[in-house]
Amino acid sequence: MKQKINRGLTLITLIAVLSATIGITLVYYSLFQTRVKQDLALYTRLLADTGVFQSAHAGAGDGSSYTENTALEELKRDNPRITWISSDGTVLYDNGADVSGLPNHLDRPEIRDAILHGSGESVRRSDTFNLNTFYCALLLEDGTILRTSTEASSITSVFVRALPVIAGISAVFLVVCVLLGNLLTTQLLKPLNVMAENLDGPIESLVYPELQPFADKIRAQHENILESASLRQDFTANVSHELKTPLTAISGYAELIETGLAGGDQVTHMAEQIRHNADRLLSLINDIIRLSELDHQEIPRKFRNIDLHSLAEECCGNLSVSAEKRHLTLSCEGSSAIVTADRDLLKELIENLIQNAIQYNRENGTILVRTGQKHGRPFLSVQDSGIGIPKEDQERIFERFYRVDKSRSRETGGTGLGLAIVKHIAEIHEAKISVDSDLGKGTCITVQF
Ligand SMILES: Nc1ncnc2c1ncn2[C@@H]1O[C@H](COP(=O)(O)OP(=O)(O)OP(=O)(O)O)[C@@H](O)[C@H]1O
Ligand SMILES: [Mg+2]
Repeated sequence: MKQKINRGLTLITLIAVLSATIGITLVYYSLFQTRVKQDLALYTRLLADTGVFQSAHAGAGDGSSYTENTALEELKRDNPRITWISSDGTVLYDNGADVSGLPNHLDRPEIRDAILHGSGESVRRSDTFNLNTFYCALLLEDGTILRTSTEASSITSVFVRALPVIAGISAVFLVVCVLLGNLLTTQLLKPLNVMAENLDGPIESLVYPELQPFADKIRAQHENILESASLRQDFTANVSHELKTPLTAISGYAELIETGLAGGDQVTHMAEQIRHNADRLLSLINDIIRLSELDHQEIPRKFRNIDLHSLAEECCGNLSVSAEKRHLTLSCEGSSAIVTADRDLLKELIENLIQNAIQYNRENGTILVRTGQKHGRPFLSVQDSGIGIPKEDQERIFERFYRVDKSRSRETGGTGLGLAIVKHIAEIHEAKISVDSDLGKGTCITVQF
């Protein structure tokens, strides 16, 4: 993180310093160029106004030459360079060179412009790489052209001269960036480090409010992980305990038969007990597998429109024999109610509720399965006239392995996982479960879709 921030800041600084330098150089050079051109134009005009060249030309009389005079001699010591050219391009006078060696100047852009428009200017790169020559030409009344020129730094040389300054500023900024980057990352990471060291403690208000959602999420996830770990531990302990009881019984009975201590009718009874406990183990393992299947959210569900009433009737039909065995009246009433659900899961939910109503009922009791619409939403309820559930246990009966009366439940072969499965299935269908129960009078469990 530190390295990334440092790199980012350095890059931004380098870009900023470089672009600012280029921008300033361009603006400065443009102003400088204008100044040079203006000065040169003023100087040329002033020189023309002195009339030195006109008089020298007039004095010669042949139109292609001139008479030397003291003023022209004076100008030879002058800078900028002055060139006087006749209308045919021949150089008449140059204060910096011998005119005999100079070529015809008619092809020079500033001379052509002066002949055509009265004045002309141009900039040419000098032989020396970092200098430009500025030219300014003026058409005099007698048809000759007066040209002045001066050398000034080119933009490249201005930029090259600025390079050490740029490098110096960049170096200073680089150091500032590294220091700033370190300071920033330390400040940014401090609250995170404090939080990481104290995930279980109370959240103190963070220096950066923008980090609050992140902190809340991490905290929630941490609590979730702890809760899941504790649930898993409880579950493993419960499973081990539930497996141990029937296995101990099976092993005990088998040992008695093996040693020959039991004989005749006792062997039959022990075999019955072994089968009963083995069935219990099987049903326990099936329920655990079922719960773990329901936990897997990626398992595809076959959701479609299902009539709760006809499904409830089918479940009642399936469990009518079990109800009859206990002399219970199992009936189904209500109207059709369509829900979007996974049929197999919904059937499992209804059958689990009816099985409980059978298991925890009294002799000659009743069970009524109702379906219909409540508050504009489909519902299903299973009401029994059984033993009822104490108020303090009503919340907990949906927990895994929770049984109100362990010995009674074990007698009837209950594992305490049925309602956990029911709750899971309801959650998958976004349905709500409510319990209404009176001890000794009966229980009504409603699933509202
Ligand atoms: N209709 C009911 N009347 C009274 N008590 C009930 C009723 N339904 C559930 N209970 C109580 O809630 C507990 C949890 O029920 P759950 O169905 O989860 O487990 P179980 O019936 O003991 O075992 P199984 O896994 O075989 O269903 C039961 O042990 C019982 O004490
Ligand atoms: Mg049950």
